[in-house]
Amino acid sequence: MRHLPCLLVLFCLFVMATSAHATTKIQGSEVDALLKWKASLENNSKTLLSSWNIGNNLCGWEGITCDDESKFISKINLTNIGLKGMLQNLNFSSLPKIRTLILRNNLFYGVVPQNIGVMFNLNTLDLSTNKLSGPIPTTIGNLTKLKTLSLFSNDLSGNIPTEMNKLTNLETLQLAYNNFIGPLPHNICFGGKLVKLSASNNQFTGPIPESLKNCSSLVRVRLQQNNITDNLADSFGVYPNLDYMELSDNNFYGHLSPNWGKCRNLTSLKISNNNLTGSIPPELAKATKLHILDLSSNQITGKIPMELGKLSSLIQLSISGNNLSGEIPIQISSLQELVTLELSTNNLSGSIPKQLGRLPMLLDLNLSQNKFEGSIPNEIGQLNVIQNLDLSMNFFYGTIPSMLAQLKYLETLNLSHNNLSGTIPVSYNEMLSLTTVDISYNQLEGPIPNIPAFKNAPIEALKNNKGLCGNVSGLELCSTLGSNFQSHKTNKILVLVLPLTLGTLLLALFVYGLSYILFQTLRTKEYKHAEEIQTENLFAIWSFDGQMVYENIIEATEQFDKKHLIGVGGQGSVYKAELSTGQVIAVKKLHLLHNGELSNIKAFASEIQTLTEIRHRNIVKLYGYCSHPLHSFLVYEFLEKGSVDKILKDDELATAFDWNMRVNAIKDVANALCYMHHDCSPPIVHRDISSKNVVLDSEYVAHVSDFGTAKFLNPESSNWTSFVGTFGYAAPELAYTMKVNEKCDVYSFGVLILEILFGKHPGDIVSTLLQSSGIYLTIDTMSLIDKLDQRLPHPTNDIGKEVVSIIRIATHCLSESSHSRPTMKQVCKEMTMSK
Ligand SMILES: *[C@@H]1O[C@H](CO)[C@@H](O)[C@H](O)[C@H]1NC(C)=O
Ligand SMILES: *[C@@H]1O[C@H](CO)[C@@H](O)[C@H](O)[C@H]1NC(C)=O
Ligand SMILES: *[C@@H]1O[C@H](CO)[C@@H](O)[C@H](O)[C@H]1NC(C)=O
Ligand SMILES: *[C@@H]1O[C@H](CO)[C@@H](O)[C@H](O)[C@H]1NC(C)=O
Ligand SMILES: *[C@@H]1O[C@H](CO)[C@@H](O)[C@H](O)[C@H]1NC(C)=O
Ligand SMILES: *[C@@H]1O[C@H](CO)[C@@H](O)[C@H](O)[C@H]1NC(C)=O
Ligand SMILES: *[C@@H]1O[C@H](CO)[C@@H](O)[C@H](O)[C@H]1NC(C)=O
Ligand SMILES: *[C@@H]1O[C@H](CO)[C@@H](O)[C@H](O)[C@H]1NC(C)=O
Ligand SMILES: *[C@@H]1O[C@H](CO)[C@@H](O)[C@H](O)[C@H]1NC(C)=O
Ligand SMILES: *[C@@H]1O[C@H](CO)[C@@H](O)[C@H](O)[C@H]1NC(C)=O
Ligand SMILES: *[C@@H]1O[C@H](CO)[C@@H](O)[C@H](O)[C@H]1NC(C)=O
Ligand SMILES: *[C@@H]1O[C@H](CO)[C@@H](O)[C@H](O)[C@H]1NC(C)=O
Repeated sequence: MRHLPCLLVLFCLFVMATSAHATTKIQGSEVDALLKWKASLENNSKTLLSSWNIGNNLCGWEGITCDDESKFISKINLTNIGLKGMLQNLNFSSLPKIRTLILRNNLFYGVVPQNIGVMFNLNTLDLSTNKLSGPIPTTIGNLTKLKTLSLFSNDLSGNIPTEMNKLTNLETLQLAYNNFIGPLPHNICFGGKLVKLSASNNQFTGPIPESLKNCSSLVRVRLQQNNITDNLADSFGVYPNLDYMELSDNNFYGHLSPNWGKCRNLTSLKISNNNLTGSIPPELAKATKLHILDLSSNQITGKIPMELGKLSSLIQLSISGNNLSGEIPIQISSLQELVTLELSTNNLSGSIPKQLGRLPMLLDLNLSQNKFEGSIPNEIGQLNVIQNLDLSMNFFYGTIPSMLAQLKYLETLNLSHNNLSGTIPVSYNEMLSLTTVDISYNQLEGPIPNIPAFKNAPIEALKNNKGLCGNVSGLELCSTLGSNFQSHKTNKILVLVLPLTLGTLLLALFVYGLSYILFQTLRTKEYKHAEEIQTENLFAIWSFDGQMVYENIIEATEQFDKKHLIGVGGQGSVYKAELSTGQVIAVKKLHLLHNGELSNIKAFASEIQTLTEIRHRNIVKLYGYCSHPLHSFLVYEFLEKGSVDKILKDDELATAFDWNMRVNAIKDVANALCYMHHDCSPPIVHRDISSKNVVLDSEYVAHVSDFGTAKFLNPESSNWTSFVGTFGYAAPELAYTMKVNEKCDVYSFGVLILEILFGKHPGDIVSTLLQSSGIYLTIDTMSLIDKLDQRLPHPTNDIGKEVVSIIRIATHCLSESSHSRPTMKQVCKEMTMSK
C-alpha cells in the first residue's frame, strides 16, 4: 500500500496546552531526553508535538503518562500521529521505569537501536506500521518482562536473534509484513503464555518451533506467505483455545491431522497452497465452530467426508485444486450458512445434488474442471443471492434450466465446455445483473438473449456451439460450429457484408478485449485493496474476512433495525453497532438500487480510497467496508457525541456544547481542511462540508466525516465535475459553474462556523452578507454577534474575543468571489493568532 503522501502540518492544533501546574517531580533527564528526541524529528513532527515544551508539566505532554506519584514516565503512546524521525536519537536509558512504549502507525525510519534493551521494565513494545529497517537488536533478550512485542508492517530484516528465546512471558508476538529470514524462534511459547502469533508475509524457513506444539494458550496464528517447511501431520498439537490458524502459501506437506477436530474453538483453518497429501479426516467435523475451511491447492485425495455436513457454522468451504474424487455428499446442503463453495479442479464426479439449491446464503459456487455429469438441476435457481456460478469443464448435458433466470444477483455465469443443448431460455432476457457470461463449447442453438452480458460478450464466450443467433459486439451474427459467421436470414447479404464485417469484428474484439482486461485489473485492484485494509489490522478485533464482519454487523444492527439508526445522509443511513466483542462502531449502509447495485459506486469508491489513506486527528477513521448483494456498507469509528447538526437541534445537548467547545470544534474542522488542502498531494477537496458531516467524540473533539464526494484535485487540471453537495452550504459559483476547488470548502466552512455559533443554519444572513461584501468587516461582524446562540450565556472575556474574531473569519470565508476568500492555510494561521 502506498504510504500516505501527506505530512501533517497543523498551525492551529494543540494551542490549548495543559494547565501548567508548575511543580514537577519528574527527573530532568526524562524531560531532556524527550526534548532532544523531539529536536531531532522532522519539522512537521515538532509542530505535532507542540505540547512538548519545558513550560508544560511533562505528565500532560501529548502521549505521555506518568506513574501514580508523577515520579516517572510509565507510558509513551504516540499512536497514529504522523511523526517522522529516527529512534536512535531517543536516549532510552533516561526512561528507567517505562512499562509501555507505543509508536505504532507513524513514519519512523532507521534501525531499532541496541539501546532499546535498557528498558527492562517494558511489558509492551509496539513499533508496528512504521518504516523501520535492519535487524531486531540482540538486546531484545533483556526485555524479559515483555508481554507484547509488535513489529509488524516495517522493513525489518535478517534472522530473529536467538536472544528472543529469553522472552518467555510473551503473549502477543507480531512480526508480519517484514523481510525476516531463517527459522522462527524455537522457544516462542516456552513460557506457555503465547496467545497471538503473527509472522505472515516474511521469508521464514525451517520447521514449526518445537515449543509451539504444546502451546495450549494459542488463540490466533498467522504464518501464511513464508517458506516454512514441515510435516503438518506432526508439527501441530491440540489447542483448546485456538480460534484462527492460517498457514497458506508455505511448504507444509504430509496429511491433515485428525487432531484439528479437537480444537473446539477453531473458527478458521486456512492451509491453501501447500503440499498436503492424504485425505480430509472426518474428525475435522468435530471442530463445530469452523467458519472457514480453506484447503485449496494441495494434493489431497479421497472423498469429501459427508461428516463435513455437521459443520453448521461453515461460511466458506474451499477445497479446489486438489485430487478429490467421488460425489458431492448430500450432507453439504445442511451447511445453511455457506457463502462460498469452491470444489473446482478436482476429480469429482456424479451429478449435482438438487439439495444444493437449499443454501440460502450462497454467493459463490464453483464446480468447474471436474467430472460432474447429468443435467443442471432446476433447484440451482433457488440460490437467491448467488453472484458467481461456474459449472464449466464438466460433462453436464441436457438443456439450460430456465429457472436460473430468477437469480437476481448473478454476475458471472460460466457454463462453457460441457455438453448442454437446446436453446437459451427466453427468461434469460431478464438477467440484468449478469456481467460475464461464457457458454462456449456446448451444443446450444437459437437466439442469444438481448441483454448486455450477452450482447457485449466476446466471441470466445459464445463460440463452438451448434447455432447461436443474435446481436453481439454490435454485429448481427449467427455462429455455427467453429468461427464461421453467417447472416441469420440470407446468405446473399452475407456475401456483401462479410469483408467489412470481419474487419469490424476484429476491431470490436480488440476493443472488447482491452476493456475486459481493464475491468479485470480494476477488480483485482479492488480486491487487493480490501485485503490490505484487513491486513493493516483494522479488523483486528473481528479478525475474520469480510463475510464474517458482514455477519457480525448484520447481527449487531439486527438487520439494520431502525432502533440502531443514528443518522441519514445523502449516500446512506448511519447505524450504531455494538459488536459481540463490545466494540462500538458506526456503520454507514449505502443506498441501493432495486437491482442490488450501489446507486453511487463512484462516491463509495472515492470515499474508501480517500479515507483509508488519510490519518488525522480530526478526520473520522474508516475501518473498512463490506460489499454484499444485499447490503454494502462502510465501517467507521464511532464517535459518542454524534453530528454537530444533531447536537445543535437538541436544546439540552446544545447547552452542554459551550463556547470553548464550539470554538475548539471550529478549529478542529479548520485543521482537517488545512491538512486536506495544503498537506496532501494532490490536495483533497471535501466538497460537502456541513454540520451533518462533522462528528464529535466524547471530548467534543470534532472529526470531519463523509468523504463520499471528495475528489483528488490535480493542481494541473481544472475540475469540471458534476456537483454533489448540500444545499445551503454550496458556494455561489457552483450555481453557474461546475468548477470545484478548495475555495468551495472554504465557503461551506464559513457557513458551518456561523451555524455552530448561532446554533442554527444562518440561512438568509449569508446572502445578505454576500450583497454587502466590502463593509462586512465593520458593520456585519457587530450585527452578527446579536445572532449568537441564545441558549448559552453571552461569551465574555477571552472566549468572547475569540468568537468575534472567528465570526470575522467566517465573513471572509463567505466572500462571494472565490478569489476574495482566504485559503485554509490563512484561516488556520489567523485562528492560532486569535487565541
Ligand atoms: C526545518 O526548519 C528549519 C528552520 O525553519 C529549516 O532551516 C530547515 O530547512 C527545515 N528542514 C526541513 C527538512 O524542512
Ligand atoms: C494508545 O493511543 C491510541 C490512540 O490514541 C489508543 O487508541 C490506544 O488505546 C492507546 N493504547 C494504550 C495502551 O494506551
Ligand atoms: C542517556 O541518559 C543517561 C541517564 O540519564 C545518561 O547517563 C547518559 O549520559 C545519556 N546519554 C546520552 C548520549 O545523552
Ligand atoms: C543486554 O543484552 C546484551 C546482549 O544480549 C548483553 O550483552 C547485555 O549484558 C545485556 N544488558 C543487561 C543490562 O542485561
Ligand atoms: C511441552 O512439551 C515438552 C515435552 O513434551 C515439555 O518438556 C514442556 O514442558 C511442554 N511445555 C509446555 C508449555 O507444556
Ligand atoms: C523454499 O524452501 C524450499 C525448501 O526448503 C527451497 O527449495 C525454496 O527455494 C524456497 N523458496 C523460497 C522462495 O525461498
Ligand atoms: C472457547 O472460547 C471461549 C470464549 O470464546 C472460552 O470461554 C472457552 O473456554 C473456550 N473453549 C475451550 C475449550 O477452551
Ligand atoms: C510436494 O510433495 C511431493 C511428495 O509428497 C514432492 O515430490 C514434491 O516435490 C513436493 N512439491 C513441493 C512444491 O514441495
Ligand atoms: C490423483 O489420485 C489418483 C489416485 O486416487 C492418482 O492415481 C493420480 O495420480 C492423482 N493425480 C494427481 C494429479 O495427483
Ligand atoms: C479420477 O478419478 C477416477 C475414478 O473416478 C480415476 O480413475 C482417475 O485416475 C482419476 N484421475 C485423476 C487425474 O486423478
Ligand atoms: C472457478 O475456479 C477456477 C479454478 O480454481 C477459476 O479459474 C475460476 O476463475 C473460478 N470461477 C469463478 C467464477 O470464480
Ligand atoms: C469459463 O471457464 C472456462 C473453463 O474453466 C475458462 O477457460 C474460461 O476462461 C471461463 N470464462 C470466463 C469468461 O471466465
